[in-house]
Amino acid sequence: MIKTTDQLASMISAEIKKTAFGKTPVELYEPIKYIMSLGGKRLRPLLTALAYSLYRDDVATIMRQAVAVEVFHNFTLMHDDIMDKAPLRRGNDTVHEKWDHNTAILSGDVMLVKAYEMLITNNSDLTLAILKAFNKCASEVCEGQQLDMLFEKRKTVSEAGYIEMIRLKTAVLLGFSLKLGGLLAGADEKSCRALNDFGINIGIGFQLKDDLLDVYADQAKFGKQVGGDILSNKKTFLLIKALENAKGKQKKELEGWLSKKQYQAAEKVEAVTAIYNQLEIKTLTEGKMNYFFEKGFQSLRKVEAPLPRKAMLRRFAEGLIDREV
Ligand code: IPE
Ligand code: IPE
Ligand code: MG
Ligand code: MG
Ligand code: MG
Repeated sequence: MIKTTDQLASMISAEIKKTAFGKTPVELYEPIKYIMSLGGKRLRPLLTALAYSLYRDDVATIMRQAVAVEVFHNFTLMHDDIMDKAPLRRGNDTVHEKWDHNTAILSGDVMLVKAYEMLITNNSDLTLAILKAFNKCASEVCEGQQLDMLFEKRKTVSEAGYIEMIRLKTAVLLGFSLKLGGLLAGADEKSCRALNDFGINIGIGFQLKDDLLDVYADQAKFGKQVGGDILSNKKTFLLIKALENAKGKQKKELEGWLSKKQYQAAEKVEAVTAIYNQLEIKTLTEGKMNYFFEKGFQSLRKVEAPLPRKAMLRRFAEGLIDREV
């Protein structure tokens, strides 16, 4: 029998709970247990499980590989929080705050190794194709992260440059998660490619939403520091459009905030948000987000699988548009 999305989510949680990452030194493994236990949406392993379930009902057999993607994701978060100087993750202290930078670096490193280990369980003639796709994806995530940091220091970034940056840092992992499900289920090449394209397009939409939430989320629910992107001059879609559309005094004020070295954090967040509001940047960003989700759904149509099963995957992806965290 085909599993519901809720059942898949429970299976993923159970698999994470039973995964032993290692024992000693505890300073290396505790932070991994910590970040993995903080929850999160578990979006990527769910995509793997849903993609696999388009074709097969024995999804229990691929849980370890699905969770490998979540381990990789959590590794990127552990390092990303150092790069972004983020204090909060999933409503708790980030690893580098709770322990220190070196701990977050090294625990992250070993998580990447664990992700590989988990990915190659049930070694088969698929392993090489999976590893090739994963290696490409993992390198691209690093490329995207480097661009993200370079862009912080740049005065302007084009919309196309931004979309390419988020394709790399975020979207390719959603693409890989879906393609992995297809590969493991033995789907045809065309469908695996379409699953990957679906993931890339909704992944771009997903990061646009992440940028929106960073400004407009309810701090009580969000679990991350609202305004963090504004404080680090991240060239998010919101800032790029504000820089393009602001005129005169407003533009001077925005540029003033970007170059200011000394300021009260809350004051900067409030002032930049006010400029976004005046320019209706939220609506503009939502439009772009919807465009990429729609593009993703077009790719999903090219996946050859039973319609009711595809509908499950589509409904799950639609839920990401209105998410609050
Ligand atoms: C956060 O990912 C990093 C991005 C790529 C935007 P998620 O929003 O999936 O974070 P969790 O795993 O649910 O906490
Ligand atoms: C996330 O980008 C990209 C990766 C973790 C690779 P963000 O820096 O926007 O993610 P959050 O907002 O900290 O989760
Ligand atoms: Mg970042
Ligand atoms: Mg970050
Ligand atoms: Mg973010």
